[in-house]
Amino acid sequence: MSKTLRSGCEPKLLPDRRVELLWADGEVSRFHFVWLRQQHFHPAIGRPDLPSGSPLRLPDDPERLEVERCHIDAGELVVDWRNDGAQTRHALTWLRDNAYDDALRLARKPDLRTWEGVQASQFQWHDWQTLLDDDEALFELFTQLRDRGLARVNNAPVADGEIEQMARRFGELRATDFGVITDIMSRPTAEAGRYANIGAGGYHELAPHTDEGWRYAPPGISFHLCLEQPEGGSGTSRLCDGLLAAERLRAHDPESFEFLTRVPYRFAAARNPQERFFAQGRIIVTDLDEDIIGVRFSDRTLGVQSLPSDLIEPAYRALAAFARELYEADLTYEHLLTPGEMHIFDNHRVLHARAGFDPEAGVRRIQQCSVDREEFHNSLRQLAERLGYQQAANMTLPSGALG
Ligand SMILES: [Fe+2]
Repeated sequence: MSKTLRSGCEPKLLPDRRVELLWADGEVSRFHFVWLRQQHFHPAIGRPDLPSGSPLRLPDDPERLEVERCHIDAGELVVDWRNDGAQTRHALTWLRDNAYDDALRLARKPDLRTWEGVQASQFQWHDWQTLLDDDEALFELFTQLRDRGLARVNNAPVADGEIEQMARRFGELRATDFGVITDIMSRPTAEAGRYANIGAGGYHELAPHTDEGWRYAPPGISFHLCLEQPEGGSGTSRLCDGLLAAERLRAHDPESFEFLTRVPYRFAAARNPQERFFAQGRIIVTDLDEDIIGVRFSDRTLGVQSLPSDLIEPAYRALAAFARELYEADLTYEHLLTPGEMHIFDNHRVLHARAGFDPEAGVRRIQQCSVDREEFHNSLRQLAERLGYQQAANMTLPSGALG
């Protein structure tokens, strides 16, 4: 990527209050006056037209800005402002890294590659110890998780709590409905006790869902490490790419797709006296470019809907249309985790499910924890910077089901 200007090219002032730069690699960037000024006069510096100590922190009025002249000096764009006599300087490397004309702005978005089940079953298994020892290997996993929402790890120590040292490489652990590090566990009935073997800890089949859609911000990156699995057992893990299901819905039923990106649904958890969680969220989230960036969906925690009357029937129609896409068999990746194997997935994109199984076959125990997505993205950027991958460090990462 070039961060120098085409030789002999001076910055050009455009009549619509922008400065145009031609880069050596042929890209063109145009920067609005107000954008340049806002970057330079951050609150600590203050603006010359505001009295010192002024509490006003609003940006300039774009229409009042006038440029006397601009030129390049020592790798910086230098702008002399006619409206208040100030001079601002902007490093070319920084301008290139943050240029927002479509070509360069879109190039900073990750390539979210959707997958079918059969493709996921070919995804690499990352070795646990290598990830702990080798930052390059960890970065490779990070980028796969960023782009596909799923990564697989094997050869993990089969011991209580070990999951924490791996998850901490992704960011601070988050407390979920189940605690910080918890088990999804079923035991043979005779050992189960009064509260075991219900819900996720049961042995019934679970349909594809994202966890805790009833929180405003559901858990981000989920870790499922298998610690116990009976010989010849079942309880196969199933994962599917919500982005692919949403893409298919957009192609097959654009009306339902549009509805789900616009109308928030209520999800709820009120299963015991300690829980009165209700949250509204869009089931499919798109960004400004209409790219699909997140999914929130669970059949078991769909709440009592409170929508304008004329939206009630369309809401259930759209929900069913999306569920049918999610349940298409080719979407589903299936794998029976054996002790030491772990799935890591983006709970704002990838839905997880489980086949039913016979609880009398023995103990099935999956240890789980989660890290918020912004924690993961923060760790990814820091690792990218440390390893010298500036492009990865500077990406605009999607905010998932919250976008
Ligand atoms: Fe779950």
